[in-house]
Amino acid sequence: MATGSTPTSTSVTWGSRWTFILAATGSAVGLGNIWKFPYITGEYGGGAFVLVYLACILAIGIPVMIAEVMIGRAGRTDPADAMTKLARESNAPRQWGLLGAVGMIAGLMIMMFYSVVAGWALEYVSQSVTGAYSHLDATAIESNFSSLLASSDRQLLWHSVFSLVTASVVAAGVTGGIGKAVDILMPLLFGFLLLLVGYSAVNGDFSAGLHFMFDTDFSRLTSEAVLVAMGHAFFTLSLGMGAIMAYGAYFPGHSSIGTTVLTIAALDTIIALLAGMAMFPLVFANDLVPGQGPGLMFVTLPIAFSNMSGGMFFGSLFFALVSIAALSSSISLIEPGVAWLEKHGIKRPISTFSLAGIAWLGGIASIHSGTIFNILDKLTTNIMLPLGGLLIAIFAGWIMQRDRVQDETGISHPRIFAVWRFALRYIAPLGIIAIFLHSLGLMGWVMR
Ligand code: PFF
Repeated sequence: MATGSTPTSTSVTWGSRWTFILAATGSAVGLGNIWKFPYITGEYGGGAFVLVYLACILAIGIPVMIAEVMIGRAGRTDPADAMTKLARESNAPRQWGLLGAVGMIAGLMIMMFYSVVAGWALEYVSQSVTGAYSHLDATAIESNFSSLLASSDRQLLWHSVFSLVTASVVAAGVTGGIGKAVDILMPLLFGFLLLLVGYSAVNGDFSAGLHFMFDTDFSRLTSEAVLVAMGHAFFTLSLGMGAIMAYGAYFPGHSSIGTTVLTIAALDTIIALLAGMAMFPLVFANDLVPGQGPGLMFVTLPIAFSNMSGGMFFGSLFFALVSIAALSSSISLIEPGVAWLEKHGIKRPISTFSLAGIAWLGGIASIHSGTIFNILDKLTTNIMLPLGGLLIAIFAGWIMQRDRVQDETGISHPRIFAVWRFALRYIAPLGIIAIFLHSLGLMGWVMR
């Protein structure tokens, strides 16, 4: 798919639905599924958190995702200009376009920690190839990860490599290559995760792992956990900042958006659940702490690889697949900004390397300061993305005309359309607002 130019109706061919699916799945499936979902599930106590996350995907994420694709397709340009154009069409203030601009900034801010974590995955490709952790026991594997966190040089090296590769792919303006790579590598990653779940079932404490993930003990659910579950629903589906909107511009005119979005969301969710099911049995079998934080993937899986025969080969392959999944997501983090700058006269390579350069500098800050890393993560995931999603839901549900929306989504079944529109107008916005208020401790005050 050529992202170097604004898609026009002529560039949208029969093949572009598949292009959209690959690009959007590539964006959605990434570190959020394999690295982040398991570790936040561990931190926030397991089952009840997972249930709230699933409810947020279903009631908020999917309706907003359909809206984003619809807006992208209707606008046929970069997110900021698409919103401005559609706002004008609906006689609404053109300031709605600012939403696209804030989204671009959110994308850069996410890139500032995403690229650091992708760098950790690259470090583990290198460690697996050289067999660096092949003879270590669980405790030594834990301190191996801590020593990576303590080494800013090694983190800087891999963060720089990852930033450079992302920028080169985006600068080339063609995601066709990476789209094709996703086509092959995603099923491979999927198969691999299944294998790891199988390994954990045999060698780990599978029942403890499953109990932890699926027993819903609501007494352990804090209001912060609810906010994090909602934020993660946005993060994992790449929503609230225009990434999916940018790709929606490629969605062909006549196909229905609904089933495509459902497929992508289902795939994304299954991959996250499999990642959790691969890791938690190993956590319990090795007396590790489920809430140990961002190191979870980098500790549990190396323990498995160091114990299996051919483990270093599998380890190299696995971390390489994770790095590529991260790459197809990071592209979509800077693409909306690049598309916008390009449309306003700045050459693609210059805009790409400027934006990637800013994100790279921010990444150096998050390498040196855990606080900056956390602020970037929490601010974007838990506040900016849901806020973006709230505004997108209001825009598509309340500002755009009903008939235009129905026409653009291609959902022809009246009842299904009505359910989606209800979710978009009421459930998603009220859900997001309620969760915000709840986490601020204001819900009790509002209900009084
Ligand atoms: N969805 C990606 C993941 O789960 O790793 C992260 C991401 C990509 C978030 C693009 C937001 C975005 F716009």
